[in-house]
Amino acid sequence: MLMSAVIGHRGARGSAPENTLRAINRAAELGVSWIELDVMLTRDQVPILFHDALLNKLSNGRGEVAKLDFNSLGRIRVLAPHGSVSESHPLTTLDAALQRIQDLGLGLNLEIKPTSPEVGPATLQFALKELAAFPGLPLVISSFNYSVLLEAKRLLPEVPRACLWEDLPRRWQRQAAEVGARSVHLSHQGLKARQVAEIRSEGREVYIYTVNSRRRAKQLFEWGVNGIFTDYPERFEGLKQPVLRTQPFGDPV
Ligand code: G3P
Ligand code: MG
Repeated sequence: MLMSAVIGHRGARGSAPENTLRAINRAAELGVSWIELDVMLTRDQVPILFHDALLNKLSNGRGEVAKLDFNSLGRIRVLAPHGSVSESHPLTTLDAALQRIQDLGLGLNLEIKPTSPEVGPATLQFALKELAAFPGLPLVISSFNYSVLLEAKRLLPEVPRACLWEDLPRRWQRQAAEVGARSVHLSHQGLKARQVAEIRSEGREVYIYTVNSRRRAKQLFEWGVNGIFTDYPERFEGLKQPVLRTQPFGDPV
């Protein structure tokens, strides 16, 4: 399998400020071996971990990430999740996050999350510069942005890529083949068992976000899903995942 059955979403978003070093530590404390993080660029093209194009909702700051230089983000703190005992935590660079992930021995699904579609390839390129310093890190690159995946295939063909969609598009096979996707990442809302079977039968793995219920996870694993992204990895301890086999993968990378 490319990743693990339970993947910490934005680190461990349920109990720590998402996409921060604290969330990465928390995921490791909760026993996951893989995490998912979102990366985007500041105005001066520093890759930082953040989910929204605007600072307003998730942090104590205001404004568009794409219009702010990294130095002006020094006082930004990412807010703790509602109801958690955690405190807010400073925003982190991708570079610092990669160091922490390596130190903790985790695998990373890096979601390239450009602040606008046009900066997709640039976001990937600047992230790859940082990743080059961590050659042994287990890595999967995903994005909702198709140009990002094509660029990843061109620049780093050996790193597994994943198509990220909310719903499976009708012509998903063609797009997945074009970017040489090893896995397909989908929302669990509206997902059908036959879609999972279809993807798996083509030799690609399936990972589903954001699954916070144990009952739902159990059902998804029965459908043949390889793994789930969750805000609460602690909820899935001991959940038995059926033995999954992926057909040999035939596309050229
Ligand atoms: O990569 C899976 C998931 O994180 C995609 O959705 O909006 O949480 O980045 P989002
Ligand atoms: Mg994400």
